[in-house]
Amino acid sequence: MRKPIIAGNWKMNKTPEEAKALVTELKPLVKDANCDVVVCVPAVNFAAVKEAAKGSKIKLGAENVHWAKSGAFTGELSADMLKACGVEYVIIGHSERRQYFGETDKTVNQRVLAAVEAGLKVIMCVGENKEEREAGYTDALVEYQTLIGLNGLTKEQVAKIIIAYEPVWAIGTGLTATDEQANETIGVIRAAVARKYGKGTANKVRIQYGGSMNPKNVKGLMAQPEIDGGLIGGASLKAPDFSQVVNYD
Ligand code: G3H
Repeated sequence: MRKPIIAGNWKMNKTPEEAKALVTELKPLVKDANCDVVVCVPAVNFAAVKEAAKGSKIKLGAENVHWAKSGAFTGELSADMLKACGVEYVIIGHSERRQYFGETDKTVNQRVLAAVEAGLKVIMCVGENKEEREAGYTDALVEYQTLIGLNGLTKEQVAKIIIAYEPVWAIGTGLTATDEQANETIGVIRAAVARKYGKGTANKVRIQYGGSMNPKNVKGLMAQPEIDGGLIGGASLKAPDFSQVVNYD
């Protein structure tokens, strides 16, 4: 009932020339995809990706957005700027932003509100680190991150949000949550959304898994009832790998 969505997160990789080559190679490989296909890329690649993806299913995403409309925020990009470049999706609150750039639950929420207001499709990331999982805080933490991040949105707006559950210990490490672990925590996130916004809304929210997802483990993860897609880092940087993830079915 929920359409799966596979999104690549290129992080700080690829020049415009490399971006063009990757998307050109990817295009024919994902033409029969049954899921939504997105690539979230560094802003310097927006134009190259947009051009190369023309006539394909591949949608353009950004990796962050500022909450203000405009102003003295050196190095930042507003939602309107992203939209003007043809960006449709935006990742907000990625754990690397939280870990290295001082992102907080409060700023995640500010960004989510601004992006939704501007009509961007939000991929909001939540997830626990290794210590938090070992201490037994996973459920409480992802519930908190989810509800604070969505605070101030209407039910209708929440229904359109995409949440990415990314256990920090599984990102770029080759370690993956087991299919059951990922499914269980995503179930916890959906239950938290249901408690606050109602079951009908929670059943519409698409929740991805992210963390070393690749052609080998995608099938098992996607077979889980709560998992609606993936946010793919390393495996999105090569067209053959990413297309195998996209064509998991
Ligand atoms: O946004 C993507 C995630 O951080 C996962 O990255 O697939 O390289 O582990 P990864």
